[in-house]
Amino acid sequence: MMNSKAPRLALGYDLDAWANFREKEPIEIDISPSENSHILLCGMSGSGKSYQEHQLLYRLIRAEQDRDGEYYFADYKGDDSFSYLRGCPRYYTYKNTLTALDIVHSRLIARQSGEDATRNPVTLVWDEYMAQALNLMNEDRKAAAVMMNKVSEILLLGRSLSVRISISCQRADAIAFPAGSRLNYGVIIVCGAAVRSIYEMLLPDHMEQVKGRQFGRGEGVVLLQGSTLRYLKVPAVRDEARMRQTCLEALSRE
Ligand SMILES: Nc1ncnc2c1ncn2[C@@H]1O[C@H](COP(=O)(O)OP(=O)(O)OP(=O)(O)O)[C@@H](O)[C@H]1O
Ligand SMILES: [Mg+2]
Repeated sequence: MMNSKAPRLALGYDLDAWANFREKEPIEIDISPSENSHILLCGMSGSGKSYQEHQLLYRLIRAEQDRDGEYYFADYKGDDSFSYLRGCPRYYTYKNTLTALDIVHSRLIARQSGEDATRNPVTLVWDEYMAQALNLMNEDRKAAAVMMNKVSEILLLGRSLSVRISISCQRADAIAFPAGSRLNYGVIIVCGAAVRSIYEMLLPDHMEQVKGRQFGRGEGVVLLQGSTLRYLKVPAVRDEARMRQTCLEALSRE
């Protein structure tokens, strides 16, 4: 039975209920530590990934406000929409994103070894992870392997230790998915129009459900816990100032 007190995160609305009846039927996930809430967000340029990621960070902070949530934001590209966060101690851009990874990964290891008994939720949100991985592979293979290994460990061990990662990228290339690791994401979102190969890689068992469907910006599919596929609508932000203020405060903690 679902615990009604479990903290929940709204990913957006059911797309068909919205498109057909203007009904706001939230699609929510359980974000208690016992559930897998690692998030993978894919989509072509301009499909609305960063926009959705921003909202997810905001809602996550709110959903966990009584649980002393800790958030680190890695923005590889230094996207304009996040420029207001520059200067926040927990906002990292370009190659400094690796520092955010190191901090979150060290927390994981300290918890795993028993040295750190805290279990407040720690989240690393990483925009354009794959672009960074590919770039680093060209520059320094070893450093790229170290980075990907840390991400894998967070994916594998994070759930029971309350350490979560939310990654966004244009294409989730195979290197991001060493054997079976797709299963480590409890939430897989494909935003906007996507090529068949992306669906085949991420949603191989749900091809029938995506066939013939068209998705615009801020729309797409979400696969929940590897089993349930829903069509998702990401609403326009109603109160941008409030969203920014909340993110700013959370990322300003030392
Ligand atoms: N759900 C939405 N509702 C309203 N506007 C949106 C929505 N999603 C995205 N947009 C707008 O569309 C534009 C592109 O979105 P966004 O930057 O999030 O795309 P992206 O997938 O991150 O692209 P890139 O790969 O270039 O970083 C932005 O101006 C954003 O404000
Ligand atoms: Mg973006």
